[in-house]
Amino acid sequence: MPDVVTALFRIMTEYINPEWPVMVMTPAYPKFFKIADALGRRSIGVELLREPSAFTLDLERVEGHLKTEGPCLVVLCNPHNPTGSVLKEGELVQLAELVRRHGGMVISDEVHAPLAYPSATHLPFASLPGESASSITFTITSASKAWNISGIKCAEVILPHRNAVAAWDGSEMLRSTSNSTSTLGAVAAMAAYLDGAEWLDSVIDYLAGNRDVVSLSARTELPVIGYVEPEASYLSWLELPEWLGQGNAGPAEFISRAARVSAMEGADFGPVSKDFVRLGFATSWPVLLQALDRIADAIKGGPVK
Ligand SMILES: Cc1ncc(COP(=O)(O)O)c(C=O)c1O
Repeated sequence: MPDVVTALFRIMTEYINPEWPVMVMTPAYPKFFKIADALGRRSIGVELLREPSAFTLDLERVEGHLKTEGPCLVVLCNPHNPTGSVLKEGELVQLAELVRRHGGMVISDEVHAPLAYPSATHLPFASLPGESASSITFTITSASKAWNISGIKCAEVILPHRNAVAAWDGSEMLRSTSNSTSTLGAVAAMAAYLDGAEWLDSVIDYLAGNRDVVSLSARTELPVIGYVEPEASYLSWLELPEWLGQGNAGPAEFISRAARVSAMEGADFGPVSKDFVRLGFATSWPVLLQALDRIADAIKGGPVK
C-alpha cells in the first residue's frame, strides 16, 4: 500500500462490516476518528488508563462496549501515538480474546514499532500465542517512521487469513490502490528492513538521549502536571496547567505564540486531552534543548498579552 492511512481506509471499506462501530483508544492519532467519520462509521472512544510507567488498555470498558454493541472493529495503535506507550502481552492477549469472543476484528497500526526502546518489548498483535489474535487481525506497518521515508510511499499490510488474501486478489479496489505504492518506496523499505538495523540502532540510541532530556525537563523545568515517559518513538505527551490554553485554541497555540515552538494540540487527540500537547523530539540535541528552554521561559513569563 502507498501509506498506512490508505491501508486503514481500504481495509475498512473492503473487509469490515459497515454496521460495526469503530472502537479507538484515546487519546488517539486524529486520523483514526477522521477516517471512521469519512466512511460514515460510528466510532467509540475508550480512554487509556494512565499508570506511572505506561498507559494501558481499559479492558473493562472495552468489554462493556463489546457486550452492548456486539462485534466492533478495534483500531489499535501499538506503540501508541501520542503517548509512546508499548502495550504489554497480558493486556494484548485479553483484548484479543474479548474481540474474538464478540465476533469483531482488529486493525493493529504498528508503524512506530521499529522505534521501541530497548527497555520495552513490542509484540506484534497478530503474533500473540494461539489462534485468537492472528485470525482477526490486519496488521499495518511501514518503514516510513523509523527510517524517515514517508514521502516515498510504501506501507505493508499483513492479512489475517487465506480468505482475506483471496478477497484482496479479487478486489479491483485493493489491487488498484496497492498499485499506487511507489517502486522507490518499496525498494527503500526492503533496504531498511534487510540492511537498516545498524542505522536504526544508532537512531534509537540518539532518541533515547533526547527522551532523557525531555523527561528531565518535564520533571524539573516545565510545570508539567502529568507525564509518562514514552517507551517507543519520538513523541512526548505533556499535560500542562489549564491557564496555558486559556485565550488560545489550547496550550500548543500558547507555546507557538510565546516560544515559537510548534507542538500539536492535545484536543486534536480527543476532547479530554485539551490540556495536553504532543511534542515531537526527533530532532538534533541542540535544537531540542533550545525548544525546551524557550517553552520553559515562555511559561515563566505568564500569559501572552
Ligand atoms: C500511528 C500512526 N499511524 C499512521 C500514521 C501515518 O502514516 P502514513 O504516512 O504511512 O499514512 C502516523 C503518522 O503520524 C501515525 O503516527
